[in-house]
Parts: sequence; C-alpha cells; structure tokens
Amino acid sequence: SPAWHVLDWSDVADWYPRLGPASEKYTRGVVGVATGSATYPGAAVLSVGGALAGPTGLVRYAGGAREEVVREHPSVIATGRVADAGRVQAWVCGSGLGTDERAATELRTVLAAPVPVVLDADALTLLVDGSLAEQLRRRDAPIVVTPHDREFTRLCGEEPGADRVAATLRLAAWMNAVVLLKGDRTVVGTPDGRAYVNPTGTPALATGGTGDVLAGLLGSLLASGLPAERAAAAAAYLHGLAGREAARGGPVTAPDVAVALRPVVARLP
Ligand code: APR
Ligand code: MG
Repeated sequence: SPAWHVLDWSDVADWYPRLGPASEKYTRGVVGVATGSATYPGAAVLSVGGALAGPTGLVRYAGGAREEVVREHPSVIATGRVADAGRVQAWVCGSGLGTDERAATELRTVLAAPVPVVLDADALTLLVDGSLAEQLRRRDAPIVVTPHDREFTRLCGEEPGADRVAATLRLAAWMNAVVLLKGDRTVVGTPDGRAYVNPTGTPALATGGTGDVLAGLLGSLLASGLPAERAAAAAAYLHGLAGREAARGGPVTAPDVAVALRPVVARLP
C-alpha cells in the first residue's frame, strides 16, 4: 500500500481557522446544507448541527425540513430549495435527501455551483446514475465524497477490501475527488495519491446519524477555506474525539456528537 500519514492533534491545530478582531460572519465563510427531507428531517437537523460546530460564520439550509431545522437551530437561514439559498462558499448535500426527482434536481443545482461540495449518503446513490456522474467529472471545484463501506461498494463496483488506503486512493483517482472512507480508522485520500488515516475513531460512533454530523462539520471546514483534503482529515479527527467525549456521558446518540464537538473545538489552541 502507498505511504499514508496518521493524523495527530498538531495537524488539526495547525490547519484550523482562528478567530481574530477582524473576524466577520461572511469572511468566516458561509456553508450551505442541502440535506434531509419531509421524510427524514432528522438528517437535516444533524448535519446542520455539525455545520454549526465548525468555523463558519453562517449556515444556510435548503431543503424539505426547514421548520425542524429552524426550531432546533434558530441561527440558521432556511429556504426550501438550493436555487433560492443565496451565496455560500461550500455545499453539503445528501444525508436524508431521498433519491426522487426533486432530490436529483437539488443535487444538480449543488453541483452547478462553483464551490467545494461534500456528497454523502443519498447524493452518493444518485451519483451512480450516469448523467450526474458526467456532471461530476466535468466539475472544476473540489468534491469530497464520504462513503461508508456499502456506499463505497456501490460507487466503486467493488468492496474496499483489506487495504483500505489503496481502495480509498483508487476511488479518489477514478472520481477525481477527495474520498473519506468511513470506518474504525477512517481514511482520507486524494486524486494525486496522498492519504491520511484517522486514529481518533471510536465504536461509540456506530449509531444512526453520526455520519450526518460529520458531513456538516466537513462542509463548514471547506466553506472556511481549508483545502478539501485538510477539511476532510480535520473533520474525521475532531468527529472521532467528539464521539469519545460524548461516550463519557453514557450511550451515544448522534445529537450528542454534534454537542460534544464544541468542547473538542474549544481545546484547539
Ligand atoms: N469505529 C470507529 N468509528 C466508527 C465505527 C467504529 N466501529 N463505526 C462507525 N463509525 C463512524 C464512521 O467512521 C462514521 O463517521 O461513525 C460514522 C457513521 O457514519 P455512517 O456510516 O454514514 O452512518 P449514519 O450516520 O448512521 O448514516 C445514516 O445515511 O449513509 C447513510 O446508509 C446510511 O442510512 C444510513 C444513514
Ligand atoms: Mg451515512
């Protein structure tokens, strides 16, 4: 397998954006979150929760769960459709979106925006459709995909297998995207062959919805201006620590992970 870098605290501390006297909400970055649906409002609430724990100054939500999102997170600006959301510096798309025609339209609108995107869950299912795969290859702005093993297998046509670094790099090169392959030791790989392994994961994260929180946090890091591979690596690292932090309070649920990101981020120098 090619060489990889095991992430540590000092990597994330070096990369993470800092507040300063000149900080302003728009310059901190605006992240757009196109997740959830009337059927799956929880995925929207969780991904927005992850985004709010990150470094951006504003979160915009676009989707079918605006009431639930604003009730849970009053600081969010919410609209029904991506096309009406206004300017953002990165989009998160997929978790709980569904795979119907409306979902496909929202994903196409996200991909047409000239900003970095995170594609998760249902967005990955929609990608397997040929016309969207083509739009993906033509895209200039960075793409981060965040598959778990089954999603990886659908995208790639084969299982990750034992060498997860090599598998991640294969998919990254083929998709021309940064790939974050979730698991016990999450792997981040780039199209040009760099790989990072995250050591902070915990099985406490093996509970529904924690991936949605990760996608939101990753979107915020991208919108704040981090390069895609650092955004993905830092998100995996901090998300793992948040899982450990949350587990100190007993059995973990996904909202606990979003809440636990705050004290973890607070420990950054
Ligand atoms: N050790 C460490 N980390 C783990 C472990 C483990 N044993 N198991 C899971 N995790 C972490 C993963 O690395 C990832 O960050 O928990 C998170 C789980 O994310 P997902 O697999 O996306 O799970 P979830 O949030 O429940 O997804 C909800 O979206 O992706 C779809 O099919 C999925 O329908 C499901 C929905
Ligand atoms: Mg998931």
